[in-house]
Amino acid sequence: MTAVTMDGRRLSEEIKGKIRDEADTFKKDGIEPCLATILVGENPASKVYLRIKHKSCEEVGIKSRNYQLPEDVGREGLIELIGGLNKDESVHGILLQLPLPRHIDGYDAISAISPDKDVDGLHPYNVGRLSSKRYNLIPCTPEGIMVMLSRYKIDIDGKYVVVIGRSDLVGRPISKILSHVDPLQELLFNVDTLLLNSNATVTTCHSRTRNLEKLTRDADILISAVGRRHSTDLSSSRKLLESLIGIFNSLGYYPDFSKRFERDGFIITKRMVKDKAVVIDVGVNKIEGKIYGDVDFENVRKKAGYITPNPGGVGPMTVAMLLHNTLIATSKQTKHELKFDLERLFGLE
Ligand SMILES: NC(=O)c1ccc[n+]([C@@H]2O[C@H](COP(=O)([O-])OP(=O)(O)OC[C@H]3O[C@@H](n4cnc5c(N)ncnc54)[C@H](OP(=O)(O)O)[C@@H]3O)[C@@H](O)[C@H]2O)c1
Repeated sequence: MTAVTMDGRRLSEEIKGKIRDEADTFKKDGIEPCLATILVGENPASKVYLRIKHKSCEEVGIKSRNYQLPEDVGREGLIELIGGLNKDESVHGILLQLPLPRHIDGYDAISAISPDKDVDGLHPYNVGRLSSKRYNLIPCTPEGIMVMLSRYKIDIDGKYVVVIGRSDLVGRPISKILSHVDPLQELLFNVDTLLLNSNATVTTCHSRTRNLEKLTRDADILISAVGRRHSTDLSSSRKLLESLIGIFNSLGYYPDFSKRFERDGFIITKRMVKDKAVVIDVGVNKIEGKIYGDVDFENVRKKAGYITPNPGGVGPMTVAMLLHNTLIATSKQTKHELKFDLERLFGLE
């Protein structure tokens, strides 16, 4: 059996088509949705990500501008720029590209963004709203993952989910969303029905989790957001150990050999995955100039039920959700009704 590949690229194109139509309806009312991005310094990966985001905005008819600040800009300079964009009525969304240089406190900077323009969903107000199941704007990657799970009609209710990673951007919000239940929540932009009643049982793991594999092997849905892979192939000693560990595991023993695997970095191998599991690969690893996920895709797909390719899975969905969040933000600020209906698009009615 080979897993169903969850084609994030194709789904994101479909969503972008709908967003383009929706952006047109704003323009007919004289409103031009606009996203402002801020880059501090010259991080090459950040520049690539921003280029993709701006190109996608252009594709769907959302205006975008980038504000480039020098690496050594002070906190005040950055906060002043954000303050100006908060007041600028022609800007509806603000995205501060992370990571920031070490001398700037990211929490401080993000807190300066108006919560209604915070299209990354990282402002403390929006984080609090998410925790209380009263969504305002939510981080794009978790939103994209939920949309994919819905589109592929993955049953989440009561399932055991293991999330590897506990960042504010991915691990924490997706863990919260997946365990939510709130049947009484008023609907907001319909997408919330996808997010409010997940009812999964979630374990969030991180670099200090002991015996991670014991947990991942039980996961109906496994989400990996680590990005610490160092090689494309398993080392020969690891391959040997992998088979030995497999024998131990089948006898109910779970020896922790993670220290021995440092050369390879963090990889989800076939042995770590439950039969027919849904595997969502968020991690981005650049190895010898090419992008790979956290998951040993070719082998894991022989065991999993569903799997996201990487690249081509979560990444394009994240960008599509950024566009979606920009329209939500524009709608809130201009009182122009947002008709975009993810539920209908996903055939969930
Ligand atoms: N495809 C997309 O659209 C998209 C979007 C966002 C992020 N990403 C990628 O996803 C990855 C994670 O992003 P992030 O912002 O969440 O990164 P992050 O803040 O660096 O978080 C990484 C997480 O992985 C955990 N971790 C590190 N080594 C581990 C190990 N050996 N075993 C178990 N857990 C381990 C860390 O644990 P500690 O907390 O203990 O340090 C941390 O919680 C990155 O590669 C990033 O580029 C992709």
